[in-house]
Amino acid sequence: MNEKNILFQPGKIGNLTLRNRIFRSATFEGMCDSHGVPTEKYLTLYTALAKNCIGAIITGFAYISDCDRAMQPGQAGIESDDKIVFYKRITDRVHSYHSRIFMQIAHCGRQTIATAVGGVVRGASTKKSSYFGGAPKKLTTEETLSLSQCFADAALRCKKSGFDGVQIHAAHGYLVHQFILPSVNNRKDIFGIDKKTGIGTYFLEVIIDKVRDKCGSDFPLLIKISAGDDYLKTFNRNHFIQLIRFLDGKKVDGIEISYGTMDHALSIFRGQSIPLDLILRYTPRYQTQTLFGRVLRKRIIYPFMKPRIKMFTPMYNLLYAKIAKQHTQIPVICVGGFRTKQEMIGAVERKETDFVSLCRPFICEPDLVTELMSNDCYKAKCLDCNMCAVMCDSPNSTRCYFGKAI
Ligand SMILES: Cc1cc2nc3c(=O)[nH]c(=O)nc-3n(C[C@H](O)[C@H](O)[C@H](O)COP(=O)(O)O)c2cc1C
Repeated sequence: MNEKNILFQPGKIGNLTLRNRIFRSATFEGMCDSHGVPTEKYLTLYTALAKNCIGAIITGFAYISDCDRAMQPGQAGIESDDKIVFYKRITDRVHSYHSRIFMQIAHCGRQTIATAVGGVVRGASTKKSSYFGGAPKKLTTEETLSLSQCFADAALRCKKSGFDGVQIHAAHGYLVHQFILPSVNNRKDIFGIDKKTGIGTYFLEVIIDKVRDKCGSDFPLLIKISAGDDYLKTFNRNHFIQLIRFLDGKKVDGIEISYGTMDHALSIFRGQSIPLDLILRYTPRYQTQTLFGRVLRKRIIYPFMKPRIKMFTPMYNLLYAKIAKQHTQIPVICVGGFRTKQEMIGAVERKETDFVSLCRPFICEPDLVTELMSNDCYKAKCLDCNMCAVMCDSPNSTRCYFGKAI
């Protein structure tokens, strides 16, 4: 009965058919060894999702060059050809259950720490991230061009590894997003802000063109973007529409709509409350703080910040997906706060999004799609406690803590 519902009908991304309209949004796994090679845990995770009828999986963000890793331990890497054989095992397994898998490729830019990148953090400009601190070194024009080539080379490795496509991470304040944002990009070279649109899309444009050149235009290419940049509001509604129009002009195969940057991570993964004690305990930046610094943060800075933090509401990015759909025919994938089957069905039926995408609920329940198919009233068990997110900074691999104290 349920399978007749549009949510469970096949959907198209480029020339690719997905078994249903449900994506697992990119989710950092922390399940790779120190060389960025996927372990058995990584295979087990993706087997469980595919076995349970997920339409498509987007992997956690993978680094594209060895000296440009995230601060979180256990990140996946796709920076060298010797990785291909390891990922082939994963993609073969996912395909054996008729699901699709895309790899998300990313460069952190200023959103990492010096020890993860050989000593020097690099960004679109020297502007600091309020969360990571430390002024990054501004990438030169040549370095920026060379990184665009790293994205293309990584995309080709994804293709050779059997991935069904690739997603460029242009959201959440990572490097591509740093170039897009008028509040970060103050460059005067070709990668600066476009005067007409008010945003910096040239870096992304070069990456898209190079990926297409390397992988062919039939290799599905998704882009993840943020619809807003937190309370600063320097990236406004008009900028968002300009970005959608730009992607429409580049004829990418799918646009995933998210929100925010890691400077205010709770805009990305909104919660019912803020796990401040965990943040203070596990985030590398705060581990080095004195007791006085921690108390100050807890008693003074936090109460000041709290009113600005965006709390959880169901489907919190759907309004932006709706706007996107008014400006493009390209499939829109909406992520953020989908928790009930009725919400997902409604959003797709009303054509407010073409696909729904979920992250935290799948950490909690890798068999969620099977549950949704068998029960019309199903509600995901995820409590939005965000412990999974905070614990990405610890040496543990990503898992659900189910609201329990650690
Ligand atoms: C533990 C964790 C890891 C994440 N890792 C990534 C990632 O690697 N790349 C990415 O684009 N977003 C990442 N996200 C953000 C999610 O993809 C998603 O945009 C966000 O959690 C909102 O969706 P949800 O309400 O379904 O969780 C992560 C979120 C969490 C909680």
